[in-house]
Amino acid sequence: EDKNVAVKTGCASIDKILKGGFRIGTLTEMYGESGSGKTQIALQTAVYCGTSGCVFICTEDLFPVKRFNQISQYVWHDIKDTECKKNIFIEHLTEAHELISCIRVRLPKLLKFNKISAVILDSVAAPFRCENTNYVQRAEELKELAILLLNIAQEYNIAVICINQVTACFTGSDDVLPTLGLVWSNLISCRLKLTKTIDYRELTIAFAPHLSNAQGAKFIITKNGIED
Ligand code: GTP
Repeated sequence: EDKNVAVKTGCASIDKILKGGFRIGTLTEMYGESGSGKTQIALQTAVYCGTSGCVFICTEDLFPVKRFNQISQYVWHDIKDTECKKNIFIEHLTEAHELISCIRVRLPKLLKFNKISAVILDSVAAPFRCENTNYVQRAEELKELAILLLNIAQEYNIAVICINQVTACFTGSDDVLPTLGLVWSNLISCRLKLTKTIDYRELTIAFAPHLSNAQGAKFIITKNGIED
């Protein structure tokens, strides 16, 4: 484990298989079905950034302030709400072009003038849903977004974490696949999959050149956040 190369989730089993957490300088994707725990892991990571700072970009629901405060209270019990929130920058955008412009123009300014160790995008999929879409334009925008995010991760040495949704797999199994296709998957550095059973949830490594993908990390979601 090396604090200088990773941004931790604070969940021991997950941080262990990720060798400390989300790797800085890279673009990590988390995908999984609805309710598998993607947003909870992202939120807890934002909480653990603490004074290291975090940018949280929401494209679906509004930022879950109550839940963020609940996890913050547990992690940083003696720090007031306002102090927990001082170092988190929240954006809410729904359109692909707004998202791209935010990442191209506003984000670099934010990163230049503030101490920030992670950028979280929840989700990358929503602005690229297929309704009324020109597919060529969508692919171009998606590629532009991925390249911008990757460059930001490298230039500012931060972890960029993107949540992706899933689509049914058409091979007859009930497995699910991440959305957004090859343009996107070719540009991400690390892909993590989340699954849930009745008893527990699990994070497994779909691909990550720097990690061994032998075993998944089991976790549960409680009022305090994500735990082993
Ligand atoms: P989508 O956003 O629908 O794609 O799902 P997701 O994968 O982001 O799911 P999320 O991380 O939001 O996890 C939702 C699950 O977390 C819920 O089904 C609850 O089981 C659990 N959860 C969320 N908030 C709380 C809470 O305050 N207490 C407890 N105990 N569990 C919670």
